[in-house]
Amino acid sequence: MNRFIIEGGNRLHGKLNIPGAKNAVLPILAATILNRGISRIKNCPNLEDTKTMQEILISLGLHVENDKQDIVVYGENITANTIPESLAGKMRSSIVLMGAVLGRIGEIYISYPGGCAIGPRPIDMHLNSLRKMGAEIDDLYKGTLHCKAAKFKGTEILLDYPSVGATENTMLAACLAEGETIIRNAAKEPEIVDLQNFLQQMGVAVYGAGTGVIHITGKPIIKADVTYSVIPDRIVAGTYMACVAATGGEIVLSSIDYEPVSSIAYCLRNCGVSIETLNKKEVKVKSLQRLKAIEVIRTSPYPGFPTDLQPQLVAVLSKSSGTSVIIETVFENRYGYVEQLMRMGADITVRERVAVVKGVRKLTGAEVDACDLRGGAALAIAALIAEGTSTINHVMHIDRGYEALENSLASVGASIRRERSNSVS
Ligand code: UD1
Repeated sequence: MNRFIIEGGNRLHGKLNIPGAKNAVLPILAATILNRGISRIKNCPNLEDTKTMQEILISLGLHVENDKQDIVVYGENITANTIPESLAGKMRSSIVLMGAVLGRIGEIYISYPGGCAIGPRPIDMHLNSLRKMGAEIDDLYKGTLHCKAAKFKGTEILLDYPSVGATENTMLAACLAEGETIIRNAAKEPEIVDLQNFLQQMGVAVYGAGTGVIHITGKPIIKADVTYSVIPDRIVAGTYMACVAATGGEIVLSSIDYEPVSSIAYCLRNCGVSIETLNKKEVKVKSLQRLKAIEVIRTSPYPGFPTDLQPQLVAVLSKSSGTSVIIETVFENRYGYVEQLMRMGADITVRERVAVVKGVRKLTGAEVDACDLRGGAALAIAALIAEGTSTINHVMHIDRGYEALENSLASVGASIRRERSNSVS
């Protein structure tokens, strides 16, 4: 078990570069399955989930090469139709493989996906869309799905909710389908636009991503040599903004797109943080005084406030002056980390999807457990502003979404180090 040892109280100063987005690179790597040519994906973050996705591609028989931040997938041959349970179970994104593998070879065995423990994460919308396009799906024993689709047929699909994963899965299934697929009530997240841009590079006729309606016209075969660079990670950027907002100090974030982080910037500005776009790729974040509370903030699909930044914002508000109310509308159970924050002295009451955060004057260092990715990041923020030393256990959750977070934070002045241990707990 790896853990972080953090000494709170340092202000942050300096520059941080934003890496490529985890939630963009994973569906794009899944999309490379559709391409018989060579896909070179640039700006890939070096994360556990990215490695798992590469292992899955290799297990399907694809040839994959890794060259620094580039992942190159040679798509000529696919020799297997089974995603090993040990890999599929590691992350949520494995589910988007269904659309791509079925589209390309017509059959897949895959277990239910894993990912963070943030409440039930059904896949009904994924399965409904694929069934509507012609897939036959059987639930085998022990949670393994067996799906067949001789040839997908383009159709009109109305999603019950703008699910990111279900939108991506349907887009991937539509690329090699016969005719046009129209996805209504599609997710509008920047990662969907990134996937569309990559598919267009592969020669797929797709448009509308970023709006609620996406059109895809399938083609019989995709064979293109493409090079594509993944967008910056808006959740990592938002996390760094939350860090400096909480600790005080001034940092410049580079290689960033401002629009996707505008909702967290809006909230932090309301708390008293100064956020200035210096140019198209750089944003300066400056925080000098104790922050103010926010009356109410509600998470919602893009362009609303992202659920993936809810825990980090709660950590920031836990030491603000006044009371803030957070309403989590996307996931049912995303306050697992709150109990750990309270061990550090935070005053937070959770009732179902509502958290009431009463800002305290001081947090105190403690030994806490990261139980999911973004909740773990929230604990790191709390530790940065707590008095004394904190230990954050189970850092592997944080590693799923942040590339060596300790090195980035230490480079701007935080006192944080990783302690490695071989014991499993
Ligand atoms: C993606 C992101 C995750 C982010 C989430 C919401 C990736 C790898 N993960 O997750 O970081 O928190 O979007 O922005 O990109 N739902 C159903 N049935 C379905 C599918 C979803 O009921 O078939 C529900 C979910 O339980 C959840 C809501 O819809 O309550 C949103 O989920 P969804 O947008 O699908 O999130 P993911 O794609 O899993």
